[in-house]
Amino acid sequence: MSNQVLISPEVLVPRLGEQLVEAGLLTPEQLKQALAYQKQCTAQGKPILLGNAIVELGFLDRPTLDRAVTEQILRLRAALEDANRHLEKRVQQRTAELEEALRKLSELNQLKANFVANVSHELRTPLTHIRGYLELMQTQTLGPLTTDQAKAIEVSLQAASRLQNLIEDLILFSLAARGEMTLTLKTVNLRQILEGIAPHVRAKAENRQITFQEKIAPQVTFVKADQEKIRWVLTHLLDNAIKFTPAGGQVWLDVSKDPASDSIVNILVADTGIGIPPERIQEIFEPFHQLDGSPTRRYGGTGLGLALVREIVEAHSAQINVQSEVNQGTRVSFSLLAAKGDETT
Ligand SMILES: Nc1ncnc2c1ncn2[C@@H]1O[C@H](COP(=O)(O)OP(=O)(O)OP(=O)(O)O)[C@@H](O)[C@H]1O
Ligand SMILES: [Mg+2]
Repeated sequence: MSNQVLISPEVLVPRLGEQLVEAGLLTPEQLKQALAYQKQCTAQGKPILLGNAIVELGFLDRPTLDRAVTEQILRLRAALEDANRHLEKRVQQRTAELEEALRKLSELNQLKANFVANVSHELRTPLTHIRGYLELMQTQTLGPLTTDQAKAIEVSLQAASRLQNLIEDLILFSLAARGEMTLTLKTVNLRQILEGIAPHVRAKAENRQITFQEKIAPQVTFVKADQEKIRWVLTHLLDNAIKFTPAGGQVWLDVSKDPASDSIVNILVADTGIGIPPERIQEIFEPFHQLDGSPTRRYGGTGLGLALVREIVEAHSAQINVQSEVNQGTRVSFSLLAAKGDETT
């Protein structure tokens, strides 16, 4: 009996009594009586559906009640289908709006990349002329120089070099942003690259009273990489490590074979500097973003370095990892594929 109560179609229709009154099949008074009867049955431990109460009280016969219930179910289903159609339309609309917003955003990104590419190319040409003439003057091809003039030209050439580096970074960034950065993967001598950059790094570190140490495991020499780009990455990571470490601190570079695989070389650049709050580590890879973006910021730069470092490392199918603790220091690491010395491509 109780099973029958549960599976009756009536349970699908909410507010059945009011619906029957609205349809003119039941008077409000009859509904009141039926509800009272239902309550009474429930109190006696014989729960009953409202429809059954109405039939038992003789207010409606079973076929009329069933027809009313069926009609009501059909009406509800139609309303549900209508709501579904409406919802689907809204979802389609919102999807179209989001697609449009995304299209505009990538168009803007494209414009930004084009702008950076055009401006940096335009800057490169005049700078090449400036450098050319400064070099001619420095070698006294255009006439003898006084000591002061020679000094002024030296300083100007240094400034021009810095400007040129920045322009080259911007060009590389705009290529990466347009997905056009290409790698020339070769077997490169990592030891040689490090020997090439170490003197500059050491000089910069000494200048800031920072100790610089490099450790390259004896088994490591060759890796599969783009020589120029990896040199750039290492220089840049060491540059950051020195820049964000106060005097008296330490910076080190550690190159080792991966303990788990002979074909992987791990590279670590670490410092005992100011560190990065853990929740801001993702931010440091955003282009043109610096953690101290205030007008009074203490450290120079454009905030482009790590964005490019990541592009380059990822183009080598590797991942860049950062571990850092505020006022304790930062460790940046990535891996490269080891290569044998006699491989040439
Ligand atoms: N070793 C580090 N220790 C602490 N903070 C760091 C370190 N390296 C990077 N950061 C933080 O990440 C930010 C982004 O680094 P990124 O190299 O991209 O830019 P930058 O060094 O400020 O400028 P640029 O590299 O263009 O000269 C830095 O401004 C700094 O806030
Ligand atoms: Mg930097």
